[in-house]
Amino acid sequence: MRLSFRIFLPVLLFGAIGLLPAQRYTDPDTLAPAFPTPQVVVDKMLELAGLKPGETLYDLGCGDGRIVITAAQKFKAKAVGVEIRRDIFESTLGRVRSLGLSDTVQIVHGNALKTDLSQADVVTLYLLTSSNERLKPVLGRLKPGARVVSHDFEIRDWKPVATERVMVDSRPHMVYVYQMNSK
Ligand SMILES: C[S@@+](CC[C@H](N)C(=O)[O-])C[C@H]1O[C@@H](n2cnc3c(N)ncnc32)[C@H](O)[C@@H]1O
Repeated sequence: MRLSFRIFLPVLLFGAIGLLPAQRYTDPDTLAPAFPTPQVVVDKMLELAGLKPGETLYDLGCGDGRIVITAAQKFKAKAVGVEIRRDIFESTLGRVRSLGLSDTVQIVHGNALKTDLSQADVVTLYLLTSSNERLKPVLGRLKPGARVVSHDFEIRDWKPVATERVMVDSRPHMVYVYQMNSK
């Protein structure tokens, strides 16, 4: 019982946070509220994705940019963060500029549901399972061999090539890795 509550805690947190800024959550294209992935989980996501130097990562719903910044700084990858909220986009863009990462990290004010992922080697998600479902047509066009890594929320009916449970402050975080079929 205790374990299942822990597993559903992120769903409860997302739901509660989503209710607070109601005016921001009325956009039907909003796929999740702003809630960051802990840094140790970010590191594990990129490690499990096998992100290599020179590869291109997209974070759909990039929030404060921690995933794209980690991709550039620790993994020497190119990274694109897509963020729908203008206020978050502006502060993340400022953060990337102040870190001197503008050559390798691009922050886009846009909608994940309308993003062209043809250049992506790795896509990261921290959305909801229902949002992942809505993204399937976009993710389905990824090139063969590309990896999709989702924090806490599965992609229904896709078979993960790896899963890992990461404990942070006594709360389990799940990481799911999917790979597009290589032909
Ligand atoms: C749960 S946060 C994850 C932030 C970051 N990826 C991380 O893991 O730390 C989700 C983010 O997605 C953004 N978002 C929600 N719907 C979106 C959409 N349709 N397109 C782009 N960004 C979106 C939210 O504003 C929020 O910043």
